[in-house]
Amino acid sequence: MGEKNRIEDFFYHRNNLYCEGVKVNEIAEKVGSPFYLYSKNSLCSQYQEFKNAFSPLSPLICYSLKANSNLSLLKILKNLGAGADIVSLGELFLALNAGIKPEKIVFAGVGKKEEEIKEAIRKNIYLFNVESFSELRLINKIAAQLKKKVNCNVRVNPDIDPGTHRYVATGKKESKFGIAWDKAVRIFKNNSFPRIKILGFHVHLGSQILFPEVYELAIKKLLNFAKKEKIKLTIFDLGGGFPIEYEKRVPPVKNFAKAIIPLLKKLKIKIIFEPGRYIVGNSSILVTKILYLKRGFVIVDTGLNDLLRPSLYGAYHRIVPLKKSLGKTFVGNVVGPICESGDFLGKKRRLPLSLKEGDFLAIKGSGAYGFSMSSNYNTRLKLPEILVSKNRYKIIRKREEYKDIVK
Ligand code: LLP
Repeated sequence: MGEKNRIEDFFYHRNNLYCEGVKVNEIAEKVGSPFYLYSKNSLCSQYQEFKNAFSPLSPLICYSLKANSNLSLLKILKNLGAGADIVSLGELFLALNAGIKPEKIVFAGVGKKEEEIKEAIRKNIYLFNVESFSELRLINKIAAQLKKKVNCNVRVNPDIDPGTHRYVATGKKESKFGIAWDKAVRIFKNNSFPRIKILGFHVHLGSQILFPEVYELAIKKLLNFAKKEKIKLTIFDLGGGFPIEYEKRVPPVKNFAKAIIPLLKKLKIKIIFEPGRYIVGNSSILVTKILYLKRGFVIVDTGLNDLLRPSLYGAYHRIVPLKKSLGKTFVGNVVGPICESGDFLGKKRRLPLSLKEGDFLAIKGSGAYGFSMSSNYNTRLKLPEILVSKNRYKIIRKREEYKDIVK
């Protein structure tokens, strides 16, 4: 335990919150509130840490775009060697646009549409992680039309409880994901699709998985099955799910590596990971302004349309003032402007009593599933994204404008 997930790229210096070498308050005064702020150093360090932890497997690291698909961030990750885990044509477009090579792109999802499969085959992506027999049939048909041969992994549902929030647990029998083991065996044994090359397994057990044993169990289970049925694997894609610190400490990624590497190293097959949250989660804060203080409520100018995680999952995000104060504190609920009682960013939070209307707060750990899950609900404009590198910052997504919403 004890890894800090690069939280240290956001720190106080003389009571002011900094992101690397830039005082966050200065950015807030210039670009206006609210906005997402990213640290390039944090992003790169997280990627490197992940890569180093698993280096004995020399895996293909396919960053999961759904966590955050900002083009500038993707270009940084591409330059570090990342591939992409995509689930839509939009994500394919962005991954290719960032310069990620098609042979490093894997396509997941239970509901791939015909036009999506067609376009991904045309663009020569590395493989499809297939979720049903019908999907295989469709991929085969399209591949035949395009006169191509296509790589596929079978996403197996290992029926394992990852011990995460029920909305993000994906490896249990009752979830819609993956193919049941007995069906998967049949696909491997009598692959009746001449245009498809079945290479191996795909699993994604859930997100924010706190126990390395969950991966260990799933790998053992599937390797045993494969052995029993004499299935030859060339690829094992383990998905994402690696956790970051939000409220409580989590095991460092090297603990996951320690559990996973010994099981797979001896097999000499290609390993793929699809981390999302681990790479971007703690590389960002969401900066917001206090509009009103009343009856223990701290009403800010960002809400569930910008950061849905607290409302949807009851997720905890640390909330800190941009200007630290060591005086007395109070306990309040940080809530947004959206017309829903479920619109909150943090409940029962201890904050400085000296906070005034007009002051700024930072909501931490907002890099993964923050902007990417944001919406225009209540017809509010999508936020800008700002990237800090050392002592400079630049806008990597403009604030949406009213003209954009009448297009
Ligand atoms: N691969 C597949 C097939 C996935 O479905 C996901 C995430 C990932 C990789 C990346 O998982 P990660 O490494 O980020 O845990 N919106 C939720 C999380 C949903 C995750 C969906 N699938 C949240 O805010 O917690």
